[in-house]
Amino acid sequence: MKILVLNGPNLNMLGKREPNIYGKLSLAELEGNINKLAESLGVEVEFFQSNYEGAIVEKIHQAFGKIDGIIINPGAFTHTSIAIRDAFLSVNIPFVEVHLSNIFKREPFRHKSYLSDIAQGVVSGLEGYSYACALNYFVNLLKN
Ligand code: DQA
Repeated sequence: MKILVLNGPNLNMLGKREPNIYGKLSLAELEGNINKLAESLGVEVEFFQSNYEGAIVEKIHQAFGKIDGIIINPGAFTHTSIAIRDAFLSVNIPFVEVHLSNIFKREPFRHKSYLSDIAQGVVSGLEGYSYACALNYFVNLLKN
């Protein structure tokens, strides 16, 4: 079983970027924590971050036939990207949408997601635990 963890724009700036909203962990630290959890659950994870919409679309295409589940924090593309939505519809790989912050507590433009209605689920506002929840979910889903 292999899970892809995708992070979108500005998430490479974690730790430095609005730490009051996104926390103090860097992306490398966050990925390290997910990796430790994955090892304890006996699942392989791959990480990818990009600030470019097309690169994320292509990564989703490349996952076809190779990846069992995707955890995605699409960053601001959550609220704008029909292309990422269509990429998920093209490959039909189950995915969980995650957010560090609770997008529903924030500005109204963050309340709309182009992905939520085609996701397995959405975890928003649990900081790094949003990713951990999604990973635990996939391990249970795909083992049963
Ligand atoms: C985010 C929320 C988005 O609205 C924002 O554009 C991000 C991060 C989050 O993890 O809370 O870049 O996806």
